[in-house]
Amino acid sequence: MTDAARLFRDTFGSEPSGTWSAPGRANLIGEHTDYNDGFVLPFAIEHRTRVALGTRDDGRIRVVSTFDTEPVEVALAELDTFFPERRDEIPEWARYPLGVAWALGGAGRQGVDLAFSSDVPVGAGLSSSAAIENATAVALDDVWQLGLDRVDLAQAGRRAENDAVGAPTGIMDQMASMLGRADAAIFLDCRSLDANVVDLGFAAAGLDLVVIDTGVTHAHSTGGYGERRAACERGAAIMGVPALRDLSVDDLPRAQELMDDVTFRRVRHVVTENQRVLDTVRTLREEGPRAIGELLVASHSSMRDDFEISVPELDTAVEAALGAGAIGARMTGGGFGGAAIALVPHAEVPAVTDAATAAFAASGFAPPTIFTVTPSPGAARDA
Ligand code: GLA
Repeated sequence: MTDAARLFRDTFGSEPSGTWSAPGRANLIGEHTDYNDGFVLPFAIEHRTRVALGTRDDGRIRVVSTFDTEPVEVALAELDTFFPERRDEIPEWARYPLGVAWALGGAGRQGVDLAFSSDVPVGAGLSSSAAIENATAVALDDVWQLGLDRVDLAQAGRRAENDAVGAPTGIMDQMASMLGRADAAIFLDCRSLDANVVDLGFAAAGLDLVVIDTGVTHAHSTGGYGERRAACERGAAIMGVPALRDLSVDDLPRAQELMDDVTFRRVRHVVTENQRVLDTVRTLREEGPRAIGELLVASHSSMRDDFEISVPELDTAVEAALGAGAIGARMTGGGFGGAAIALVPHAEVPAVTDAATAAFAASGFAPPTIFTVTPSPGAARDA
């Protein structure tokens, strides 16, 4: 029995009708490009959020989690009164599943009880939020017989994140967690939402993908994330294009003439990052994963210097990994904390682990948490 099913039984006193799950994600490359209508190349990881679900007859929804065993209960008909205006009255973690129920039009549907457990690290930039949103979305789609496709369900998750939680994020995380495949990344055009599976072949190339979680937590509902987004919109407006996706590196000299230095550097990050995603996809297909190291490193430098979303712990992790034999490394996710990823020849993983741990100690940082991740399948019904 899963932890979620056990929690369901202990909390609600009955057996669930099924369990569903959805993974966290790491982003191989393409950061802060999604809300600029650009390109991303994330993959789902093996860490998952599970939900056990049972129906009830009174039109209410209850949610409970192994992280907060006090159930939160709302009438489905009242979800519209909480989101978005009165969201602060809902405990923070519960805004994710209740927000998805709201985004899927829960009013008038059958009541449900949901119990969650998760092994996706929270605050590590591995999208524990998309995991809980997508687990909820696939479960409710099944029991409410909504018949939605995966893109619709990912969009419901994003709407929950934007309007019920209040984080102005893009669609990357929900799409990666919905569409993930074993040993592959999802090459997503965030304007058309066309998704293509790109084989990674890390294991066959003798490579491991190492996550170095700095332990520096972040929240995209506050501060820097929204500011970066606003700077991108400002830059697009100055250039007279709908989104930064519509610029190429050839447009950068003109952009530099037209805007202040900070806005220009934000624009340069997004425009060059879009190009790096395209280059990474081509390189993976033509030369394999051992050839993408420089693109990962260039992505990190751009986030550190132009987009200014790295922190000293992330820079330390990247430098230590590269110094100890990683062929590429970069921070992953929204930034301001979270995790770095490093692509490492199998035999060098202990050296990279030791080097990162030693570098953190030498800088007086709390020890990082280091583990490998495997590109894994997306959201699904488990049982
Ligand atoms: C967070 C957001 C995503 C994306 C990344 C940065 O993970 O949820 O939509 O913007 O940051 O690439």
